[in-house]
Amino acid sequence: MSKKLSGVWITGGSSGIGKAAAKEFARTGSKVFVSARRTRELEKLNEELEKEKLSAVIFPCNVASSANVDQTVKKIIALHQIDCLINNAGITSFKAAENNSIHEINDIINTNLLGSIYTIRLLLPHFIRQGKGTIINILSSAAKKIFTNSSVYTASKVGLLGYTNVLREEVRKYNIRVINILPGATETPMWPSEIRKTNSIRMMTAEEIARLLVWVYLQEGSMVPEEITIKPVEGDL
Ligand SMILES: NC(=O)c1ccc[n+]([C@@H]2O[C@H](COP(=O)([O-])OP(=O)(O)OC[C@H]3O[C@@H](n4cnc5c(N)ncnc54)[C@H](OP(=O)(O)O)[C@@H]3O)[C@@H](O)[C@H]2O)c1
Repeated sequence: MSKKLSGVWITGGSSGIGKAAAKEFARTGSKVFVSARRTRELEKLNEELEKEKLSAVIFPCNVASSANVDQTVKKIIALHQIDCLINNAGITSFKAAENNSIHEINDIINTNLLGSIYTIRLLLPHFIRQGKGTIINILSSAAKKIFTNSSVYTASKVGLLGYTNVLREEVRKYNIRVINILPGATETPMWPSEIRKTNSIRMMTAEEIARLLVWVYLQEGSMVPEEITIKPVEGDL
């Protein structure tokens, strides 16, 4: 199957980087599957895509629920071969460790770390059966550099970096590529509105990250960009 007709599943496609990636992949002719919790926002994505005579197949899915991920994987692979999983769904809280509630800690770890591990683990047999697959994880430059007020978020991203570094070595023999993208500050609704207002000029855009994701995915042949850190030209905020 040519990459043009390949199936791509993007988690967290209702806003920010995931939404921009859904549009960019749809423009390549890929069959795009998009999931998130807010169905209305996914419908809005499709309304925007319709203006370009494009569409995505949308699924409500909370990645923090392994049962929910399991059902979604079954529904998607019943419809189409999936060649690429983009683990993008994520949340954060800009707080010092002592101010994080237990509920908040659970939410961040369950979404960013466990959610991504669930999608990988439940889609992996499909990739192994078909003898190929690409897993792209949206980590963060926080996995490599220390930022205060982001301890739980950093733990979730460092955890996923460790998991996927081991996974990569295990799945090379199945022709499965594991790619980690570590973006710096990108202007999306993840940031509080006052920070977006004052710093947007210094931040990368979701569309720039989306174009990188398509480029990374489309690399053919013997090369795979396994880990890419991207930063705003002016550096970290
Ligand atoms: N913005 C940055 O500066 C930056 C930098 C480095 C890395 N990142 C990473 O980029 C990814 C996307 O973030 P963003 O900046 O685009 O933020 P965003 O606009 O807030 O998007 C986050 C997406 O994740 C989804 N999501 C959150 N919890 C979910 C859950 N439990 N189940 C399913 N989907 C869930 C949200 O959809 P619903 O609410 O509809 O579920 C939304 O579509 C995250 O992993 C983030 O850590 C962002």
